[in-house]
Amino acid sequence: MEGRPTFLITGATSGLGEAITAQLGERGARVLMGARTPDRGEAAAERIRSRVPNADLEVVAADLSLMQEVRSLAYRILDSTPRLDGLILNAAEARSDLVLTAEGIETNFATNHLAGFLLIHLLLPLLRSSAPARVIVISSSVHSQVRMVDLSSVVTGAPLTPDSYKTSKLLNILFVHELARRLEGTGITANAADPGFVRTNLGRHAGGGRRMLLTITRPMQTSPDQAAATPVYLATSSEVAKVTGAYYSDRHQREVSDLAKNPKLARRLWAVSAQALVNRGLATLNEMIAFG
Ligand SMILES: NC(=O)c1ccc[n+]([C@@H]2O[C@H](COP(=O)([O-])OP(=O)(O)OC[C@H]3O[C@@H](n4cnc5c(N)ncnc54)[C@H](OP(=O)(O)O)[C@@H]3O)[C@@H](O)[C@H]2O)c1
Repeated sequence: MEGRPTFLITGATSGLGEAITAQLGERGARVLMGARTPDRGEAAAERIRSRVPNADLEVVAADLSLMQEVRSLAYRILDSTPRLDGLILNAAEARSDLVLTAEGIETNFATNHLAGFLLIHLLLPLLRSSAPARVIVISSSVHSQVRMVDLSSVVTGAPLTPDSYKTSKLLNILFVHELARRLEGTGITANAADPGFVRTNLGRHAGGGRRMLLTITRPMQTSPDQAAATPVYLATSSEVAKVTGAYYSDRHQREVSDLAKNPKLARRLWAVSAQALVNRGLATLNEMIAFG
């Protein structure tokens, strides 16, 4: 990458996202830090500047569970940012309870999948004009625990079954596969990363069992800084400049579950995601055909 590369990372205010932001800042990148609110963003930027004084950071705030906020974030970036070399879709919720957003969408699905799906449609012109560019989606090994997925719930707003967090991490990989296929020949790559089991705030809304598991295993979990190595590698290393449609952990390509490899399911996810947005008036048909 020539000059100072610019990255947008969602969920930069905690855990893995904060660590990735600091490491990109250390490497001289300009980082647009996705934050739920400006205050949370500025507090995280302060923490990062205390370790990386020269970090070039800008907070971009939006509640990603709300597609209207995702839209406004995308338009602010299109207005103010001349180039975007990398987009890291990292923000996630792991709620065990069923919470619908004000737009009638299940919160984990909205934040963990639909926000990224909409954001990349809106930012595609900027990524295209900045190519070569890279998209990295943070997934998880828990995707392989999901044995079936009913995508009809995506359109109706019902929760993803059987576990909406784990299912959303499966959808992240299906999304990357279809995205990589649609981006062929554009110079934009798309890959998924599994950060491992990391000491972060992800379990804060988890129910009893998961919360207890996360607490008991905390000493065995890796630090956010260690876990950031794979996403930062995918975002910056020349070794993976041409790799696309892959899933990495510990900086190595790994196999994904059979369900995550299913191209029909990936195409159907793309179609139902677009339908869920258009049906609710949260995106236009024109926007949804950005990829052809
Ligand atoms: N921790 C693990 O063991 C683990 C394992 C595998 C994969 N992952 C993946 O790693 C990624 C990062 O998670 P983490 O473990 O670092 O968790 P985390 O500490 O909870 O960080 C999640 C980030 O997402 C942001 N976020 C959540 N909902 C949002 C919303 N509606 N609008 C804007 N921002 C929102 C959070 O902002 P707030 O601080 O304002 O909530 C926070 O900055 C996720 O994709 C997760 O699935 C984590």
